[in-house]
Amino acid sequence: MPTVTVRAPAKVNLHLGVGPRRPDGYHEVTTILQAVALYDDITATSVPPESLAGPDGAGPVFTDEDPIAVTVGVAGEGARPATSDDADGAGDGPGGSPGDTGAEPSVSVVPTGKDNLAVRAAYLVAEAAGIRGEAVHLTLSKGIPVAAGMAGGSADAAAALLACDTLWGAGLDRETLVALAAKLGSDVPFPLTGGTALGTGRGEQLTDVLGRGEYHWVFALADGGLSTPAVYGEFDRLSEGRLRTGPTPADAALSALRSGDPAELGAALVNDLQPAALRLRPSLRRVLESGLELGAIGAIVSGSGPTCAFLARDAAASVSLAASLAGMGVARAVRRAHGPVAGARVIPADPAGPGGEPGSSAAQSPPLSPSSSPA
Ligand code: C5P
Repeated sequence: MPTVTVRAPAKVNLHLGVGPRRPDGYHEVTTILQAVALYDDITATSVPPESLAGPDGAGPVFTDEDPIAVTVGVAGEGARPATSDDADGAGDGPGGSPGDTGAEPSVSVVPTGKDNLAVRAAYLVAEAAGIRGEAVHLTLSKGIPVAAGMAGGSADAAAALLACDTLWGAGLDRETLVALAAKLGSDVPFPLTGGTALGTGRGEQLTDVLGRGEYHWVFALADGGLSTPAVYGEFDRLSEGRLRTGPTPADAALSALRSGDPAELGAALVNDLQPAALRLRPSLRRVLESGLELGAIGAIVSGSGPTCAFLARDAAASVSLAASLAGMGVARAVRRAHGPVAGARVIPADPAGPGGEPGSSAAQSPPLSPSSSPA
């Protein structure tokens, strides 16, 4: 059966400046996003429509509202509760990586219905390309932590756009795919683009940032998620009575990226949502402090949290930082990844699952790159 697999990266916000709430409910932001080597693989497979049971046991009925049929399967972290049957460790992230704290994951189950962004992405491609009568199965192989503030759902949506476009030979151009991505969410265009980018508007208007250097990150994952709207809501409460004219400018981080000096970037990390995330999850303060005590040159809550991101001096420092953080037991799990990396791309079918290439730390197969292996 025709199959296309697309790999899309996670992101970390090097800068997240947030302005006041706009009339449409979103906040104006100035953000710098960096794609990091933690990946989700989305495989889109054409299936015979008649193989899917419809309401009367026949195949699906295609209508204007439902011109296609989409089913979803999820693998990797967030797929389902870990059980004793999980001999492969799939319930605790890819491969039960060395360096994980070993704690049981709290489960953030990925939705598999029309509320899944990847499913909505398939519908958008069908609509834009006039596709009808196709049935597609999407397999989401999650290497990006779920509900962590690392845009895993957005990566899936971006990957599904490209996968369905390729599978159906729709031939939508890059600009159209990016426009569809922006419809799906503020963070969806970026995983298509990758690299390092400046985001404005609600975060969806991207400009490439020409920076230098490779950066080595350590991510401390927390139990459970933090809801993005709740964090923005708390941000509004904390901002009440204060004059907030616009998002904090990103000049310091942009200048650090031009210099390529990790120490300068570490000192320039800003997240205007961090006080709100810390209010909702006070335990993250200890995690941030621990990373800094252990030698991180920068520490920040990633996006709306609850993941904490630490910048290390170099690859070797990231290995020891990750091991020490994991040993302290302040995080559910620890991951290591370098950035920037490329955006979503079609990859050859790989029976080993996500991470079967240099640069991925989502490996269920042994990692090939020392700078991006699981911590
Ligand atoms: O765009 P997306 O659907 O991912 O945003 C999720 C929620 O995050 C929005 O409904 C809004 O509450 C909040 N948000 C915001 N300002 C932004 C981006 C997101 O208030 N720039």
